[in-house]
Formats: sequence, C-alpha cells, structure tokens
Amino acid sequence: MDGHESADRFGIDTSVAHSARVHNYWLGGKDNFAADRATGDAVIAAYPGIVKSVRANRAFLARAARFLAAEAGIRQFLDIGTGIPAADNTHEVVLAAAPDARVVYVDYDPVVLLHARTLLTSDVSGAIDYIDADLRDPPAIVRQAARTLDFSRPVAIMLISILHLILDRDDPYDLVSQLVNAVVPGSYVVISHAASDIDTGAMISMANRLNELMAQQAVPRTHREVAAFFAGLDLLEPGLVRIPEWRPASVSDSAARAQMWGAVARKR
Ligand SMILES: C[S@@+](CC[C@H](N)C(=O)[O-])C[C@H]1O[C@@H](n2cnc3c(N)ncnc32)[C@H](O)[C@@H]1O
Repeated sequence: MDGHESADRFGIDTSVAHSARVHNYWLGGKDNFAADRATGDAVIAAYPGIVKSVRANRAFLARAARFLAAEAGIRQFLDIGTGIPAADNTHEVVLAAAPDARVVYVDYDPVVLLHARTLLTSDVSGAIDYIDADLRDPPAIVRQAARTLDFSRPVAIMLISILHLILDRDDPYDLVSQLVNAVVPGSYVVISHAASDIDTGAMISMANRLNELMAQQAVPRTHREVAAFFAGLDLLEPGLVRIPEWRPASVSDSAARAQMWGAVARKR
C-alpha cells in the first residue's frame, strides 16, 4: 500500500503491524505497510509453514462456504473477521452457489473498512453489508446485521482465523455462545483456529514472534480448547480436524501443511 499520509487520514496506524495486513502480506497481497511486512517476514523466519497454513485456511473457508450454500441450503452468512479481500471471498463463493444469498461482513480494521466501502458501492443488490465492529461486542454485531439478515431464519456464523486473536480475558467462549444464542436452530457455526498442539515448538516460537511485533496478541489453542467452542452444537463429519482434512477436494490436498483446527457445526 502506498502513502503513509493518506493512511493517516483514514486513522490507520502504519507503524505497528496489524493482523489483517500481515495476513494480506502472507497471501501475496499489496495492502500492507513496512511494519506488517517486517512482522510477516520475522514470523516466516520462525515458522516457514505459515504461508501454506494461511493458504490452506482460505481454501477451508471456500469449501465450508460452498458446502453451506450449495448443499446445506443456507442463504444468510455472518462472516466475522473478514480480512482484506483475497481469492475466494465469502460473498463470491456463496453468491456463485446461491445468487439469492446475503452476506454480512464484520471487521474492526480501518484498512478492511476501506475495501468494504469499495465493495459496497459496487453492490447494488443489497445482498452484501459490512459492519465496522468488534467481535468482543456481539449484541452490536447482531443488531447491525439485522439490517440485512433475518434472524428468524438460519444463519451461518463464520469465525475464520479470528478466535485466536481473542484473549482468554475477553472470554471468547462466551462471545461465541452469545452469537449462537442469537441464531435459530438449523443455523451453522464455522471456525478455523491456530493450533497449539500441532508442531508445538514451532507454533510457540511463531506466536511469540507475532506477539512481540503485532498490535493484537495471538493465542493458539489445543484441539480440546477449540472443540469447546462447539459445545452444544452438532459437529458435521469429519469433526474438528486439521483444516486441509475437512472435506478435501483430493487426497493430496488433505496432506497440505496447516497448523490450524477447523470444523463446521449445526445448531440443533
Ligand atoms: C487473520 S485475519 C483472517 C481473515 C479471513 N477471515 C481469513 O481467514 O482469511 C483476522 C481478521 O480478524 C480481524 N479481527 C481481529 N480481531 C477482531 C475483533 N476483535 N473484532 C473484529 N475483527 C477482528 C482482523 O482485523 C483481521 O481482518
């Protein structure tokens, strides 16, 4: 991204790395600043598998969204932790499978907001909305999402690569259950989450590097800790697995390196 001055005008602090922009750098995007690239490179040095992991995460997002729209009949999506646009954004995958679907994005990063403004001005159908909000305030998210989504009908809540940015002191389990309580039975929850119990040593050094350099802190969690986000929900096959193993397109895809747990679950 060019122009620190114009970034300042939009309230973007370019001096400290932010997760959306570091993620964008790993995905080969251009919406990042020197601090984001330096953090991205430091993490790659500590843990070279990170680039494959974030790509596997985008592929998981696309497979899960496509399944929900094309096979599970879901027409409403609440994608929290949108990130900077990359390949296969949720609305692209969903609208290709179900043109009558609606997608609400939520993020708190000002760079994501800038992209969202462009996206929304190009959308004349009203099928897409964007909320500038914090996952730590579920009532605000639900209230604003109700502009576009009908909460008396099923909604897919997408929490893709965001919950490891919510510290225990902010009670991520309670945040997820507040969101689940806001949707009707037949709704779905999709989560991908950095794992602390796959490649443990490398993941710890990666998280330490990220936490030294990034504005947000990251907390990878164990399989058991991630499974607890799905308490009271029915996990779909194959359950909570390494993300490349969730309904892979091919056997070789399932062997991809990725240090994240992921699953899709349905509310009874
Ligand atoms: C690692 S990126 C993931 C982007 C996308 N979901 C993906 O998987 O490719 C995490 C995103 O979550 C956003 N985020 C982190 N904490 C958040 C919070 N408390 N509220 C809203 N958004 C948050 C960041 O700004 C960033 O865009």
